[in-house]
Amino acid sequence: MVETIQWTPDGVVMIDQTRLPRQEQYVTCRDYREVATAIKDMIIRGAPAIGVAAAMGVALGVQAGEDFDTVCDTLAKTRPTAVNLFWAIDRMRSLYASLNGRPRPEIVARMVEEAQQIRVEDIAICRAIGKNGASLVPDGKTVLTHCNAGALATAGYGTALGVVRAAVEAGKHIDVFADETRPFLQGARLTAWELQQDSIPTTLITDNMSGHFLRSGRIGCVVVGADRIAGNGDVANKVGTYSVAVLAKENSVPFYVAAPISTLDLTLESGDQIPIEQRAASEVTHVFGVAVAPDDVRVENPAFDVTPARYVTAIITERGVARAPYEASLRALMQSASQKA
Ligand code: MRU
Repeated sequence: MVETIQWTPDGVVMIDQTRLPRQEQYVTCRDYREVATAIKDMIIRGAPAIGVAAAMGVALGVQAGEDFDTVCDTLAKTRPTAVNLFWAIDRMRSLYASLNGRPRPEIVARMVEEAQQIRVEDIAICRAIGKNGASLVPDGKTVLTHCNAGALATAGYGTALGVVRAAVEAGKHIDVFADETRPFLQGARLTAWELQQDSIPTTLITDNMSGHFLRSGRIGCVVVGADRIAGNGDVANKVGTYSVAVLAKENSVPFYVAAPISTLDLTLESGDQIPIEQRAASEVTHVFGVAVAPDDVRVENPAFDVTPARYVTAIITERGVARAPYEASLRALMQSASQKA
């Protein structure tokens, strides 16, 4: 399987997700500023993956003797919606605070180890999500997914695609429909590519075809990832997810969200409080540098939308599956996570 991100003696190496699938190129970030730019420019993207990248960015900053708060603040300002970014920075901050007064070589070594540990844990978490979700996937049907919540969006294996992989490993005969995911085309460029690498049968559709196929009876369930889940179970994920969820409910197709505990933000009562990233107009007006809209047209480009909890059949985490009422079930999962930590 492809390596999304790795710590190496030369720096943090990431597969360049802006170039896939045409080119398989790797970028080496040698300081924390380069990591911040890679997150902002979506060389690396996907909530868990940007958490790992931020942790490694903090470690690079400490290694180089940079001002700690500046390092953390710069990385925190890259993308606002995925809470995993802030979760990872907070985890690195806590460790740093606990090392106060220790010799510098020890601090550097521990911070680097922690960043690598977050990466290793993320892969294990994805496998556990997959295991917990596999039984929910109907055999002999199609799984519809949106954006890329796969190995590329995590340190490996994926969340939504982790559920798909685990279902396939369990012997289920399934295939995947991947929404292309305008405007950044994560579905067409990344999901289709990574599932092809694993020989999982995949069909690419444009975003506006999902209603047609949800109505057709061939989709057994929808599985998507998440960037932030509020205390009431509202889910922020790639823009377009909300429309898929509504159409799934209308057609009685189960809609599952697969995400690690680090994607829960129980400080927020509802999804209305989740900050939604607005990205450049050029992502909408241009496709691979070619203008597809008249000059100076007004554009909106929210990168995420919020799916209200009433559309979510279940939330699959590494600690188990939460169902409505989410206020209680998500809190219980969070507590079981911290007890075991
Ligand atoms: O803008 P992106 O590509 O970072 O958005 C990614 C998504 O919306 C994913 O579905 C989400 O981060 C979950 S990834 C396991």
